Amino acid sequence: MKIRTLVIGLAAATFSLAAFAQQPIVIKFSHVVANDTPKGKAADFFKQKAEELTKGKVKVEVYANSTLYKDKEEMEALQLGAVQMLAPSLAKFGPLGVKQFEVFDLPYIFDNYDALHKVTLGPVGKSMLKLLEAKGIMGLAYWDNGFKVMSANKALKNPEDFRGLKMRIQSSNVLDAQMRALGSLPQKMAFSEVYQALQTGVVDGTENPPSNLYTQKMHEVQKYVTLSDHGYLGYAVIVNKKFWDALPSDVRQQLDAAMEQATRYANQIAKIENDTALEAVKKSGKSELITLTPDQKKAWKKPLVKVHEQMSERIGKDLLQSIYKETGLDPAKL
Ligand code: LMR
Repeated sequence: MKIRTLVIGLAAATFSLAAFAQQPIVIKFSHVVANDTPKGKAADFFKQKAEELTKGKVKVEVYANSTLYKDKEEMEALQLGAVQMLAPSLAKFGPLGVKQFEVFDLPYIFDNYDALHKVTLGPVGKSMLKLLEAKGIMGLAYWDNGFKVMSANKALKNPEDFRGLKMRIQSSNVLDAQMRALGSLPQKMAFSEVYQALQTGVVDGTENPPSNLYTQKMHEVQKYVTLSDHGYLGYAVIVNKKFWDALPSDVRQQLDAAMEQATRYANQIAKIENDTALEAVKKSGKSELITLTPDQKKAWKKPLVKVHEQMSERIGKDLLQSIYKETGLDPAKL
């Protein structure tokens, strides 16, 4: 009887060891936007490709819309290993101590996606991702979102219109300087809280690419949306370095391949998603879209261009110069 029990016990142990060996590696991928956005869609695409290319050895669990963590918590969770993958906006690395990423927040630093890609798909972007390693984080890729609009319950046509308005921003000191340059009062706030803050009047206005504005229904609580294209918002896809380094090398290679495909996909859909969202905002009739005249554009640029010089110390003068060099931008000519 005793031997029988032992045999059964041994068989069960062997079985559970085998089952354990076959347990998939789980990647929790947390983000704060809706599924139906450039980042949301790219995260879902990555999940599908990663599971396909690793033949089920990896399972990716995507948690969208701040359902697992909000902005600040998700960074902490990644460092602690409670989640394995994130794609925070480039404007959210300052609190981590990697201020250089705020260069992407400078007003008018990129004319268009092509100029941006010279940085994000080139050597400067690559060397910036390396800065994360000292924080226990690996940067895998940049994913596009797009160029920002400004919104409020007041028509924002000239810099004077911003005076005294409380404007929600992401946690970037460059964005803080940008809003102050326009005469408004910036307020850093988690993305998950923006809709309610706009609805209740805790803040008066905000900025975001149309895809975020529309999917969070911000246009329903903002009467005016100015098509200013005054700055860019995009993402770094990041992983916990210890987790990544400990992966079997074949799995890591398969995940690298899945990430490459997801990045191509993200960058293909971003502009279309934003154009579609803008159309939907227009169609909703809930907010009025404002196009700036050339003179108004000029008037915005005047105070905003000064933010480059003002924040160059924080970002790093050499980095800023290397970005101008890549894109061919001459800030004096803006
Ligand atoms: C924001 O906080 O406005 C954005 O960074 C949200 C996002 O992830 O696109």
